Amino acid sequence: MSSGLLKGKRGIVFGALDERSLAWHVAEHCLAEGASVVLTNTATAIQLGTVSQLAVAHDMPLIVCDATKPEEIAELFTRAQALLGGQIDFILHAVAQSMNLRRHKSYEQANYTYFHQTLDISALSLHKILSTAMEMDAIAEGGSVVALTYIGSERYMHGYNDMSDAKAMLESIARQMGALYGRKKGVRVNVVSQSPTPTKAGGGWNELEFFYRYTDHLSPLGNADADDCADVCVALFSDLMRRVTMQTIYSDGGFGRTILTPELMDDYRRVENKE
Ligand SMILES: NC(=O)c1ccc[n+]([C@@H]2O[C@H](COP(=O)([O-])OP(=O)(O)OC[C@H]3O[C@@H](n4cnc5c(N)ncnc54)[C@H](O)[C@@H]3O)[C@@H](O)[C@H]2O)c1
Repeated sequence: MSSGLLKGKRGIVFGALDERSLAWHVAEHCLAEGASVVLTNTATAIQLGTVSQLAVAHDMPLIVCDATKPEEIAELFTRAQALLGGQIDFILHAVAQSMNLRRHKSYEQANYTYFHQTLDISALSLHKILSTAMEMDAIAEGGSVVALTYIGSERYMHGYNDMSDAKAMLESIARQMGALYGRKKGVRVNVVSQSPTPTKAGGGWNELEFFYRYTDHLSPLGNADADDCADVCVALFSDLMRRVTMQTIYSDGGFGRTILTPELMDDYRRVENKE
């Protein structure tokens, strides 16, 4: 049910690859709330994924952009503003990739070329997007930028590998740029820390199904799904959240604030007693 929360707003959504992508759901929710949206991804992702079907289905422009390349970001802003008819009101950064994770490298034996790529793609890209936007004055007064993160940025998460470092850096960039862009132009920058969700980037390590069940059990409200994430993003893009910036908003069913449940206590007791 739409409330027209984003009526008349223009947005750019980075990172929709296929129908499981968090960005795919965010784009659909933004449209439903009355926004005009430009989709963007790398040439390879557009070729291998199904984002062009989303673009066609909703008549949304789809522009190629590698978010690690400032000149491509600048071109994206120029074209998106021309197509949408003015400055951009909101941006979703849903961009991440780790070859160390994908190739099952252990953290202590990381490949450093991959490590640099992880940081560039998953964290520095936000800096490049915001820095380019500032230079071009591409975001409207009071605009809103949201990047997606995971709690593995602030707590040790077995198997999350160099993505933990990338997410910590992403969150720091969001705070620093939030301070600078806020003072300059009233632009808000926040991160949404999302529950584990089955997507391409959310995959890449073994025992994933078990992990989803574990976090679902530990979260008082259960895991947040892609539509829950999209609703939080829409709220942050809307004027309702006009004084919220430099924050981490948890879309995780309460997982991050929970340590123990009676069932886990019982399980561990059984392990100790070797039952
Ligand atoms: N799925 C989860 O469990 C989960 C949980 C918390 C946060 N997140 C974050 O949500 C965001 C979206 O991930 P997702 O889970 O929807 O997976 P996804 O694989 O669908 O999305 C990741 C996207 O990043 C894009 N990308 C990679 N390199 C790029 C580059 N150089 N330039 C532009 N785009 C590039 C990919 O093409 C892809 O569309 C990521 O930041 C991810 O870390 C995911």
